Amino acid sequence: MAQIAKPIKPKSKPVLSHSVSFTDGATDGACPQEFEVFKGTLGPNVIDVGKLYAKTGYFTYDPGFMATASCKSKITYVDGEKGILLYRGYPIDELAQHSDFVEVCYLLLNGELPNRKQKKKFDYDVTMHTMVHEQLTFLFRGFRRDAHPMAMMVGVVGAMSAFYHDALDITDPHHRMISSFRLIAKIPTIGAMAYKFSIGQPFVYPRNDLNYAENFLHMMFAVPCEEYRVNPVLAHALDLIFILHADHEQNASTSTVRLAGSSGANPYACIAAGIASLWGPAHGGANEAVINMLSEIGTVKRIPEFIARAKDKDDPFRLMGFGHRVYKYHDPRARVLRKTCHEVLDDLGVKNEPLLKIAMELERIALDDEYFVRRRLYPNVDFYSGIILRAIGIPPHLFTVIFAVARTVGWVAQWNEMIEDPTQKIGRPRQLYTGYGPRPYVPLDQRGKHDGGTRQ
Ligand code: SDX
Repeated sequence: MAQIAKPIKPKSKPVLSHSVSFTDGATDGACPQEFEVFKGTLGPNVIDVGKLYAKTGYFTYDPGFMATASCKSKITYVDGEKGILLYRGYPIDELAQHSDFVEVCYLLLNGELPNRKQKKKFDYDVTMHTMVHEQLTFLFRGFRRDAHPMAMMVGVVGAMSAFYHDALDITDPHHRMISSFRLIAKIPTIGAMAYKFSIGQPFVYPRNDLNYAENFLHMMFAVPCEEYRVNPVLAHALDLIFILHADHEQNASTSTVRLAGSSGANPYACIAAGIASLWGPAHGGANEAVINMLSEIGTVKRIPEFIARAKDKDDPFRLMGFGHRVYKYHDPRARVLRKTCHEVLDDLGVKNEPLLKIAMELERIALDDEYFVRRRLYPNVDFYSGIILRAIGIPPHLFTVIFAVARTVGWVAQWNEMIEDPTQKIGRPRQLYTGYGPRPYVPLDQRGKHDGGTRQ
């Protein structure tokens, strides 16, 4: 990352740059309508279309939000063309190299890196919130043992508002702060409980003498029969994975959290909605899908078969871990993880891990293939994370839980930013209606064989 001579300071609000005019060609003699263009600190300017309907009678149309800014934010910046990711202005590769996850949590929530005293207090406050209400542990018994852990995460996190109703006034900054700490601190405890429940082992309470990643490994793998020693190499790798997954501007799950929060829903319900969205294989569920895909490929020899399937429009198969809505150059997180992959596997003495060999060969072939090059499909954050998580001993169906544990701080930071925005209002998109126009009700005895119920 090129040295930044003089960091650009955040702007208190978007700056008016110029205006653009729109003339409706469908209306003779229509006068041009002006719309203001605002600029932020980095990235594309935006056209404020808030008054487009009032001025022109038109909506904008942008399914998938390919070119739509849903909000203004100071938290994370992604430059997909240059492969840049900044958390509050700090490049992700520098945070990966020098920081730790709890410090990144402080940064995302507060906007600045903590000094020594602030870091110590923040770390203490998070640690003091890691236990969950004992009644909450009984919620797991309502699930089958073979329930997907993400189903348990959605249910249990959503239920947290029933346990922590002493701080649910989202207009009260103190309540928001307590709820934020509770979510960041308890999400690893709940994630580990989902794992323990699925394998029939007793829940393991958090320990206050371990750091965030160490505590998670301890709650995941300790058993009452013997002392569990945390492997520092694995703890460091997991801490790094948490850092890299912590936030990523207005991705699908973060946008879900913001939309849920815009109605005034409590933070636990909003984060549960984010977890539900993250679960999808096109989003956070991709890390589990990558490992399943690499296992299905099985040998380097079968890679061409799967590359062909990925290109076949009649085949729904896509190369999991490749492509990104924003990154049209390397995902900087994938580059950090690719390096860590080798370090962790070397440290664990499993550098000949067959899935890594397949992943490396798949990456090499795909990046030479015209189909992927033309569509600028590079490995994303999920491509290598699964290999490291598997080496740490985490089963694939827990991978997206790890992603949710890491992303909770990003969701919480974005939720706070939205609630604190004085211009915030409930999100309520419009549509392009293509259904029936008005038509009279047809009594049952007058309906033909195919009236009603036939989908257009
Ligand atoms: C995450 O948004 C975020 O920031 C997300 C995330 C975060 O930190 O929150 O970064 C985390 O979700 C990473 C992405 C993980 N998902 C996967 O790895 C699943 C595989 N990737 C694809 O599903 C896809 O690339 C998406 C969903 C990630 C992006 O889809 P887009 O931007 O909507 O692109 P598209 O579907 O319009 O694809 C464009 C073209 C299409 O071909 P054509 O119609 O132009 O011929 O590229 C093709 C697609 O068929 N394509 C792929 C492909 N991804 C896109 N072809 C084969 N394999 C793929 N993986």
